[in-house]
Amino acid sequence: MSGSHEMSRRDFIKVTTGIVGGVIGAAIGLPTIFYLIDPALKEGGKDIWVSIGKFEDMQAGVPYPFSFTRVQVNGWERTSSSFGGFAIRKSDKYEDLVILNSRCTHLSCTVNWNEQGKVFLCPCHDASFGVEGEVIDGPPPRPLDRFTDFRMTEDGQIEILSKAG
Ligand code: FES
Repeated sequence: MSGSHEMSRRDFIKVTTGIVGGVIGAAIGLPTIFYLIDPALKEGGKDIWVSIGKFEDMQAGVPYPFSFTRVQVNGWERTSSSFGGFAIRKSDKYEDLVILNSRCTHLSCTVNWNEQGKVFLCPCHDASFGVEGEVIDGPPPRPLDRFTDFRMTEDGQIEILSKAG
């Protein structure tokens, strides 16, 4: 799920600690420092494929939750953005997946799946959405957004395209 991404985030923190140590230690280390920052900058500013789980682990009709965090780097400033959603399997073909963003389209609270009522509920203003994200009740102006760019890897992982910015 979010494991690999979390790992790279931790690695980045380690790298940052290393950079700070390097600056304090010796000014002569500057060229190396910029070399280290550069990949982090690129990582934060481009479209990336993020693994959300194995297709075989997704049960038909049961929303499969996922979440991940992206880190944007701007100079010495780091900004984390969290994303989450649900993959809904509809058939044996991964192409039929519906992958919803869990951010409510009203004022961006996070919706949760309610198994009993078979709806997504938004706790902020009592909205409800159907299993494919359609508005059933409440103030949201449109259905839940979807991740429409996704693919399956050779080992059966579903990956979604997380756009930069
Ligand atoms: S933020 Fe979800 S209903 Fe208002």
